[in-house]
Amino acid sequence: MHPIRIAPSLLSCDFSRIAEEVAKVESCGADWLHVDVMDGHFVPNITIGPPVVAKIKEVATTPLDVHLMIEDPLSHADSFLDAGADVFTFHLEIVEKIDPMKLIDKVKSRGRKVAMAMNPDGNPHDLSPFLPCLDMVLVMSVFPGFGGQKFMPEVLDHVRVIRDELGFTGEIEMDGGIGPENIAACAEVGTNAFVAGTAVFGAEDVGQRITDLRETATKSRPG
Ligand code: DX5
Ligand code: ZN
Repeated sequence: MHPIRIAPSLLSCDFSRIAEEVAKVESCGADWLHVDVMDGHFVPNITIGPPVVAKIKEVATTPLDVHLMIEDPLSHADSFLDAGADVFTFHLEIVEKIDPMKLIDKVKSRGRKVAMAMNPDGNPHDLSPFLPCLDMVLVMSVFPGFGGQKFMPEVLDHVRVIRDELGFTGEIEMDGGIGPENIAACAEVGTNAFVAGTAVFGAEDVGQRITDLRETATKSRPG
């Protein structure tokens, strides 16, 4: 069974104090740091690039879970791998614009985990050709672009399909609007990694929130 991973999304942290925010969530038990990279093309928002990811890596003690919401992750792969991405996630929606197998091989050859993300309106069957090569699938539970959106429960079915119909045995992460009120449902269908931005950084007691998320997910997982 894959470990439960709670991955606070730094998109919701105070960017003027990133190092302190990283230290805070790490001391509160975060397993991964989720880093949202947006290019203003694949999504309407622009966030951070490799130099900032490299700076986060300098102060982090937990793995960087880098979520690339960009149109050309292949051209930028080396920059993000050099910057220290431990988990490298790119989107199913752009695979026709690049050579996805070349990208997967590149990430793996550098010893990092490779994952493919799918938007809420995606068809999980489109992931099939890639599943044998992936360490993880990221199921988006909001349309990517912004933190603080509402969780879309219909994506729970995608996880069921990926696990039960497609037989994927790697890790499954969910991202978008996750909090104490819906993490049980995500875990029940087979999700083991949970991104939470607003729910973690907006909590009055960050340590208690991470503990609650982990305990609820642990109690709710199948088997
Ligand atoms: C959305 C990002 C998410 C987001 C999560 O495009 O990929 O990682 O920041 O934040 P919350 O938990 O606030 O939805
Ligand atoms: Zn994300």
